[in-house]
Amino acid sequence: DSDRINIAIDGPAGAGKSTVARMVAGHLGYVYIDTGAMYRAVTLSAQRLSIAADQDARLSELLGTLRIRLEPGDNGQSIFVNEEDVTGLIRSREVTRQVSYFAASGVVREVLGAMQRELAAQRGVVMDGRDIGTHVLPDAELKIFLTASVQERALRRFKELPSDQGITLEQLESEIAERDRLDEQRDIAPLIQAKDAIELDSSHMTIDEVVASIVKLSRTKLAEAK
Ligand code: CDP
Ligand code: CDP
Repeated sequence: DSDRINIAIDGPAGAGKSTVARMVAGHLGYVYIDTGAMYRAVTLSAQRLSIAADQDARLSELLGTLRIRLEPGDNGQSIFVNEEDVTGLIRSREVTRQVSYFAASGVVREVLGAMQRELAAQRGVVMDGRDIGTHVLPDAELKIFLTASVQERALRRFKELPSDQGITLEQLESEIAERDRLDEQRDIAPLIQAKDAIELDSSHMTIDEVVASIVKLSRTKLAEAK
């Protein structure tokens, strides 16, 4: 179907991927898919059962029982696990600190990667994550690698927190840097820019500027696909 393309947006934590991906999808009438939410949902489910990230057999069994469903919501996207709305729960600091360990698991990546490919099969999706352009949708027509300095990314995340969260900007920055390191250094599908991805450094760009430039690139790709 040459009327629609797939768009992959990858990059480190806090670069603006989900914010921008959701808005780009809105502009194009496409479906937004937050793959990070899926890794977070698996992490939350494993933590509840005290399953560790290296327990392949238990993780496999768990994955077999999870029905993960994404639904467009007022404020982005809601995520359900076996019909429980876990949208808020997956953003906890506990999940955030552990998710990169679960995301390094081959068992987890295989199951979630297959789900993600299926969601994009009809095209017309904007999918954000770490390995979308490199592994999940290597044939996506448009690939963006969205970055920003770690200071800027930490500041953005800090501003999102309600005051008196018991975490300082410095702590947040070091947790983000550690998560980036784990995501970049894992063996399976690490965070890396795809060869054919366009890098956008959003450190000094507004959200609207980033969205406008991706929408413009999409229109060019759409015209090419015709
Ligand atoms: O929104 P934020 O950047 O904090 O993180 P996220 O997109 O929700 O992703 C959480 C974690 O899931 C990342 O730090 C990665 O460890 C993992 N992830 C991944 O490995 N592959 C993806 N395609 C998406 C997320
Ligand atoms: O998904 P990812 O972790 O890459 O980032 P995000 O969850 O979209 O968070 C980025 C935060 O930075 C949000 O609070 C945005 O409002 C803000 N922001 C941005 O995304 N892009 C800019 N150019 C400036 C600020």
